[in-house]
This record gives sequence, C-alpha cells and structure tokens, in this order.
Amino acid sequence: MVTTETGTLYLHPDRNLAMELVRATEAAAIRAVPFIGHGDKEGADGAAVDAMRKFLGTVNFSGTVVIGEGEKDNAPMLYNGEVVGNGRGPACDIAVDPIDGTSLTAAGRRNAISMIAASDRGAMLDASSVFYMDKIVGGPEAIGVVDIRQSVAENVRAIAAAKRKPVEEVQVGVLDRPRHEKLIAEIRAAGAGTRLLLDGDVAGGIDAASYDGRLDLCMGIGGSPEGVATACAIKALGGLIQTRMAPKDDAEQQRGLDAGLKFDGYVYEADELVAGDNTFFVATGVTDGNLVAGVRRKGPIIRTESIVLRARSGTIRRVVADHLVEKWLGEKLPGI
Ligand code: FBP
Repeated sequence: MVTTETGTLYLHPDRNLAMELVRATEAAAIRAVPFIGHGDKEGADGAAVDAMRKFLGTVNFSGTVVIGEGEKDNAPMLYNGEVVGNGRGPACDIAVDPIDGTSLTAAGRRNAISMIAASDRGAMLDASSVFYMDKIVGGPEAIGVVDIRQSVAENVRAIAAAKRKPVEEVQVGVLDRPRHEKLIAEIRAAGAGTRLLLDGDVAGGIDAASYDGRLDLCMGIGGSPEGVATACAIKALGGLIQTRMAPKDDAEQQRGLDAGLKFDGYVYEADELVAGDNTFFVATGVTDGNLVAGVRRKGPIIRTESIVLRARSGTIRRVVADHLVEKWLGEKLPGI
C-alpha cells in the first residue's frame, strides 16, 4: 500500500486478483463460442467484450484500462482510460484483449485466446498512439545473448548456442504478413525454421518464452497493445522481450512523440513496457491452441482452459474449469 503526494491511497494488486480476472477471460471465451467459424469477427469481438466487461464489474479492484478496445468515441466498452471493477480493491492498470485472434475465431482456426494483463497502477506503458511495435521474445536462455539490435542471423545462432541445439532445430514464430518477407528469408538463410502465425503474437511470444514451448524465438512487427500485454506474461516466465516502435508514417510517429514515446531505434526493455514485478497475465483458450485448449461443450458443462501467470512469485497455473453454463452466465447460449 502507498500514499501518494496527493494523499491518494493505493492498494497494490495481490495474488487473488489473477484468479478473479480469469473468470472474466473465461466468460469472454465462452461467449465467443457461438461465433467460431461463422465469419463474423465483429460479432465475436462484441460478444467477448460484453461478457468480459460484465465480469470485470464484479471484481474487487479499480482497474484503469490502459490498453483496451480503442478510443472512447469508437469503443463503447473497455475503451482506453475506462475504469472497471467494483472500485473496492487495489488500483491497477489493465490491458484487455477479449479476443486476440478475432479473424482466427471467425474462420474457425486455432490459437484464438481471450486475455487480460494487470499491473500496479501507472506501471504499464501507454503505447496506444502507435499501432505497431517490432518485437523479439524468447525464454530465460535468450537473456544477455539475444538482442533486437543484432542481426537476425546473430540472434538465431545465439539462441541455438544458449539452448545447446543445432541452428537447424531452432524454430522462430513470425506473423505471416507481407511485411515480414525479408525477416522470414533471413531466418531461413540463417539455417533456422519459421513457424508462420496466421494471427496471435501474444500466444506466440508466450510459447517462445515457455520452457516447454514449441518456439525458440518470436520475432517481427505486431500490435503495440499485444506487446505490452506480452511483457506482463514474459515477466512471469523470466524471459526476454524487447520492442521498438514501428510507426506507419510520420503523422503516427508525431502522435507517439506527443504522447512521450521514443523512436529512432530506441529499445523498450521489459521494465519499460511494464514496470516492476507485480504483474499478472491470464488467458483462456477460445479455439484450441498450443498454449491452451479452446472452449468445449460436454453435455450441460462448458469446459475452459486458462493459464494464470504471476511475475512476483514466478508461478504459472493451468486452470481447467467446468461451468454449468446456464447458471454461470444466467442465459442460454445459442450454438454451443
Ligand atoms: P486481433 O484479433 O485483436 O485483431 O489481433 C490479432 C493480431 O494477430 C495480434 O496478435 C497481432 O499483434 C496483430 O493482430 C497484428 O496486426 P496485423 O493483423 O495488422 O498484422
């Protein structure tokens, strides 16, 4: 607990918070299920946002959405700056992505998750003025040997040596985008393999940082909000994350400069993306993925699988929950 100069009393988020927040990602994932494979990504996102917002309202905290669904004018709920929770607990920053992988969900593809990251109030970087970041993410072995300032080949060789495996066995996750043509060619020229991600570089980053993950590194340009959220998870995994702002044009860079962001190759390390170690990350599978299984129906039960990560204790929990769905959500869900 701290008292600021203005006399405001802040309670820090404690260990129970993540177990509360996971109920909100479970709710969002469950509500997105009727939309899986139905081609309606806005519908899926809207349902997940609605469910997450409803559950967050019951949580004992005062969470300021630092990374949300966008600016207030365009996002009716979970907009940047909105305060959620019942206001009775600690003051926190939160980053929410009710569905990371809306297109995956709409298409019925793997690896869509619902996620929330939380930290002490004021600890998260507000990178909302610049849409993309260049990122590199790896596990504990990457620290001190992999660096976003090095060439792709140097990083591939460094992670291979650190993990004591041949370069040919190194797997690098990259979002499958035309902007990554050169990066993909460089990874392959260095002798490593790529795992091209259709979407979802939060799950990709966590996979790369996990001791039992399939990836050795995750690299390339993806969403800034996702970068900050990933940093909350990476802190719990003891891994490496470095990012650089990747503005689309001069106007976006100017908006970033006005908001206090740094450019010209400036490297944001994990501590600048989210300060301190009181960070939490929770994610529930929407569709089956490498990180967590998707929501599935078993008779009257809906089963969800989630991960709950806490940096301070370095714990990773897997939470499998069976929900008697009609009771839990108080409504019938079509299609599941
Ligand atoms: P949404 O599902 O929220 O749209 O994000 C999916 C995602 O793949 C992120 O994981 C990633 O950071 C970002 O989009 C990449 O952006 P883009 O699709 O424009 O390359």
